[in-house]
Amino acid sequence: MTVFYLDGQEVEFKPTETVLDALIRHGQQVNYSCKKGVCKTCLLEQVEGQIKLGSQRGLAPRLKQRNYVCACQCQATADIKFKSILPQDLFVGAVIQHKKILSDTVVSIGLKLENKLFYEQGQYLNLRRFDGLTRSYCPINAANDDIVEFHVKRKYNGQFSDWLYHHAGVGEQILVQGPLGNSYYKAEYQDQTLIVVAFGSGLGVAYGIVAHALQNNHQGEVFLYAGGRDEGELYLHTQLLKMNLIHRQFTYQACITGHKPSVMKGSRVVMADPFVQAVKAHRFDRQQQLFLCGDAMAVNHSREQAFLNGYPIERVHTLSFEYKDLRNRARR
Ligand code: FES
Repeated sequence: MTVFYLDGQEVEFKPTETVLDALIRHGQQVNYSCKKGVCKTCLLEQVEGQIKLGSQRGLAPRLKQRNYVCACQCQATADIKFKSILPQDLFVGAVIQHKKILSDTVVSIGLKLENKLFYEQGQYLNLRRFDGLTRSYCPINAANDDIVEFHVKRKYNGQFSDWLYHHAGVGEQILVQGPLGNSYYKAEYQDQTLIVVAFGSGLGVAYGIVAHALQNNHQGEVFLYAGGRDEGELYLHTQLLKMNLIHRQFTYQACITGHKPSVMKGSRVVMADPFVQAVKAHRFDRQQQLFLCGDAMAVNHSREQAFLNGYPIERVHTLSFEYKDLRNRARR
């Protein structure tokens, strides 16, 4: 029997299994969400033995230095020893300070953190509720504000988003981990053209990237193509129209992908896929940065299309969200 160890206990594994899969098969209580190395909710600390190449892929240097690995990306090997990470090693406490329903599907949540986290707009934070369920969301405001604000879209069968939308109230305690991800506005882009494409729930983070650039006196042009099935998904429409009037270098285009809206009219609204619209409007060149935010399938497809259109891949920044229906699976 080949085994690895977690907190001193033997865990038998099969030859092709990841550490996470072996733990789940044995009914161990372990946190996870995406199983793709993105959300970082499955971190463990490696204390002895040799991990396989790739087990720390995508981890921030500060996490690698602490010998953290993503259990979902770590191939199990014999006799390796892991330790669970205590919430206080990764998370800071927070409390819901305000909550506002923005549309039929989107809620705004403001969190007051016990300790400040220094993130860039476009990076994401993991929110963990009382029972360990953890999901990733991007703050839409700057790290130096006292309250960290999120726009959370209620997903079909989304346990966490549904809880935030319907049940969590002001005063609710929550844990916050991060920052994670490296798709964000950098000062070196100042004179370049930014093309930001949002798919559905990516609008909050796309808005954050645009707002950050404009607040930092960005000199190049900034284009935002915001896609949503209906006006409810484009809940920042009015705010973005105002920004379009105030900032001469900013152009906003709302792209509806579902039914024709009854109330949204005018030149800023088209019936089109936001990425297709961006491709139509721009000849991609080396003076641009392309940001793709939102639903994982749309982001990955558009990234591939950008590459096929000759767009340099190092200039494509992606932030995708994976959602799964985990409601019927036993987990913590
Ligand atoms: S479950 Fe391992 S990184 Fe998301």
